[in-house]
Amino acid sequence: MSAKHKIAIFASGYGSNFEAIATAAFAGVIPAEISLLVCDKSEARVVELAQKMGIPSFVFSAKDYASKADYEREIVSRLRAAEVELICLAGYMKIVGEELLSAYEGHIINIHPSLLPSFKGARAIEQAMEYGVKIFGATIHYVDSSLDGGRIIAQRAVEYDGNSIEEVTAKIHSIEHELYIQTISKLLNKE
Ligand code: GAR
Repeated sequence: MSAKHKIAIFASGYGSNFEAIATAAFAGVIPAEISLLVCDKSEARVVELAQKMGIPSFVFSAKDYASKADYEREIVSRLRAAEVELICLAGYMKIVGEELLSAYEGHIINIHPSLLPSFKGARAIEQAMEYGVKIFGATIHYVDSSLDGGRIIAQRAVEYDGNSIEEVTAKIHSIEHELYIQTISKLLNKE
């Protein structure tokens, strides 16, 4: 069996995708080890989760740095020290800048709770609901310098014709977890 690939997960909030990916890695469902959590919110639940799961984290506050380039340089040096090969954004609420993109070009992926290119940006599920959408979904895509705009890797649809944002969000989250694990597995097994 081949060696485990080293992954970093970037997240800013609740961390359900982080938890699903880390659990899959621990169980050997994906040939990976979560080497680092990068988080820009010290109070986020995902930071506690990483601690409980014994996963190292780098928690930073953008305001402690003079610029995005400065904090991204620090992130890149931590990723290199941990020999990270693949970066998975999972609810990381910052735009990835040039430092990180040029250091890990083609090796950064993101999950977004809509069928892109529809409903980019924040509040994607709410936006779709406001339009009266009946087919929601999730997309995994490569990250480039545009907002939610890199080449699409995988998508899955969810039919929903109700008006509870909580209900549709829970449905989308559960397909996100499956889709992320399957996509990571495919990407890593190809290498
Ligand atoms: C997920 O639904 C993810 O698709 C979304 O944030 C949520 C994080 O949930 N990401 C975006 O909206 C990116 N534009 P989690 O913290 O429970 O994994």
